[in-house]
Amino acid sequence: MGSGITQVAAMAGLEVILYDSFPEAHVKARDSILQSLARFAEKGKISDEEAKSIFGRIYFVDHLDAIHGSDLVIEAIIEDEEAKQLIFSMIEPLVNEKTILATNTSSLSVTRLAKGLKHPERFIGIHFFNPPVLMQLVEIIPALQTSPEVTSQILQEIKAWGKVPVTAKDTPGFIVNRIARPYYGEALRIAEEQIATPSKIDQAMREIGGFRMGPFELMDFIGNDINEAVTRSVWTAMHYESRYRPSSIQVNLVNAGWFGRKTGKGYYTYPLTKHESPTSLTAEHQNICTRVLVMLINEAAEALYYGIATKEDIDLAMTLGVNYPKGLLQWADETGIAECVRQIDALYYTYKEERYRCSVLLRKMAEENLTFYG
Ligand SMILES: NC(=O)c1ccc[n+]([C@@H]2O[C@H](COP(=O)([O-])OP(=O)(O)OC[C@H]3O[C@@H](n4cnc5c(N)ncnc54)[C@H](O)[C@@H]3O)[C@@H](O)[C@H]2O)c1
Repeated sequence: MGSGITQVAAMAGLEVILYDSFPEAHVKARDSILQSLARFAEKGKISDEEAKSIFGRIYFVDHLDAIHGSDLVIEAIIEDEEAKQLIFSMIEPLVNEKTILATNTSSLSVTRLAKGLKHPERFIGIHFFNPPVLMQLVEIIPALQTSPEVTSQILQEIKAWGKVPVTAKDTPGFIVNRIARPYYGEALRIAEEQIATPSKIDQAMREIGGFRMGPFELMDFIGNDINEAVTRSVWTAMHYESRYRPSSIQVNLVNAGWFGRKTGKGYYTYPLTKHESPTSLTAEHQNICTRVLVMLINEAAEALYYGIATKEDIDLAMTLGVNYPKGLLQWADETGIAECVRQIDALYYTYKEERYRCSVLLRKMAEENLTFYG
């Protein structure tokens, strides 16, 4: 992530210092930036001259002291709270009081990281998506202590880098990693209940929902180990709320070392050799798609109800961060809020589980015949 973020900033015209505590990481970063710039040049998006000058603005350093005088420092080291706290305690004395310090953490509390600083008001989360050079979305997460000036400065800066920033409250999973949970969790639940196979669920979400990848092929692509760890971290941080609970199907796959594409086996076996004969779409496919979709809509509505982000930012985040075919709140409007409530309530009546509790916001909107985008 660090090399990608470096390249984005250098392409926006900034001089960037890249520090890594492992010298071999510089070799990898240098190669990947050069390769990526060459691809941009081949496609005619930048000239060879531009590629050279972008690369010339990147300084690979082996001493942290080199960051002295920087306006902005973005940390993207391993996802370990102690390691991050330690590096910030080393960074803070090296920079001036106006320098903004940021973390690219995916799952740690930005507020807790800020707590250890002398100047927590100039600390913020800047969460890029992988790969940073291609993904437009950036989640901006002010800590409780962050000053509003720092937040608006960073929003402007990230826009100037050609990215689309959205602002998220400092809560587990921020926007994307929280709202996307039911895409995996509900699909796993359907498989666990033996209502349908992974390939049938994938087909329903692709061909009816219009998602680029079905949940199981996507989990295999992300890595079941990574996907399970994100689910577990959101579940734990949300005080074990039942709708985020990890699935034993996925835990078993992780225990077996079947992480997906990278291990050659996950829900599918790789390289994919045998394609199941295409089945025609049935009412069952439709039911599966509706069930997963309304659970996603419910999650998006809850995020709005609890002020995690604005409705526009929630919809932007899911379309740009995970390529959903449509914003979920816009989708709710198109489906009809009352219909969404009816579908979620039907699940609740069937299972009598807290996980299927309809968002108060959706229920109120249905009662008052309101829509998200009026
Ligand atoms: N990989 C993703 O898809 C993704 C997406 C968004 C955010 N993130 C976040 O970005 C951060 C980095 O993730 P990654 O996937 O690039 O990890 P990575 O393991 O690929 O890279 C981490 C780098 O940090 C270096 N490093 C470790 N400890 C260090 C220290 N004390 N000082 C300096 N350098 C140190 C390592 O040498 C390594 O090059 C994490 O916080 C992660 O949660 C990752």
